[in-house]
Amino acid sequence: MTTAILSALPEEQSGLVGSLEQARRVTHAGRAFWQGVLHGKPVVLALSGMGKVAAATTATVLVERFGVARIVFTGVAGGLGDGVRVGDVVVALDYVQHDMDVSPLFQRWHVPGYAGVRLPCDAGLSAHLSGAVSACLQSAGGQFYVNSDGRPPQLHRGLVASGDQFVTSAQVSRALRDPLVAAGHDVLAVEMEGAAVAQVCLDYGVPFAAVRTISDRADDDAHVDFPVFIQTVASRYADHIVRHLLELL
Ligand code: ADE
Repeated sequence: MTTAILSALPEEQSGLVGSLEQARRVTHAGRAFWQGVLHGKPVVLALSGMGKVAAATTATVLVERFGVARIVFTGVAGGLGDGVRVGDVVVALDYVQHDMDVSPLFQRWHVPGYAGVRLPCDAGLSAHLSGAVSACLQSAGGQFYVNSDGRPPQLHRGLVASGDQFVTSAQVSRALRDPLVAAGHDVLAVEMEGAAVAQVCLDYGVPFAAVRTISDRADDDAHVDFPVFIQTVASRYADHIVRHLLELL
């Protein structure tokens, strides 16, 4: 029962590869996959690449070639929801593709062929992931990120949006969020891969869960906040959360 741990960027994956035992590097479809044992559990570590297509290819390889039992995404996202701040952690319960629009044939954001606008994550795996994040924030929250007002990081659970766009202005962020919220889709965060992996996992019936640490607010400061966060704290979050999760599985 191998667990795939998918990260978007090498900086997010580096700590996990460093802790891997019996490590074996395999390349396939131009990508590197690390097989081995992490905290006593069989895993494959992979980089999704950036954007929906790259992530879908990587997820498909994980299922078809490595026969993984589940896929867990750890990465960063831009905060969209009120009170979702840099350093907070979002566990996705479901996903929407914010750049999918086949209206008027289908409702805006609905990927034809799927049950509705929202692509669900696996409830059981997401509950384990939320438990792992809560345990981390209690035991190691201080090592993560403390906002300028001293507020410790918080866990949010809910809808995450993905699309092939790095959102770097408050105006674009509002244009993305407001119609979703008006349609009853209270979106917490935006990133570029998760919905594609959710879709592939629904196709194959493979459980999927995703955790995203908030690196920026998808606003006019995002281009500065994102690289600083990636280089300084993102991998620490991934290392702790994955260790706690693997202990629960
Ligand atoms: N991932 C992290 N920050 C993001 C942003 N602002 N837009 C899209 N994906 C992101």
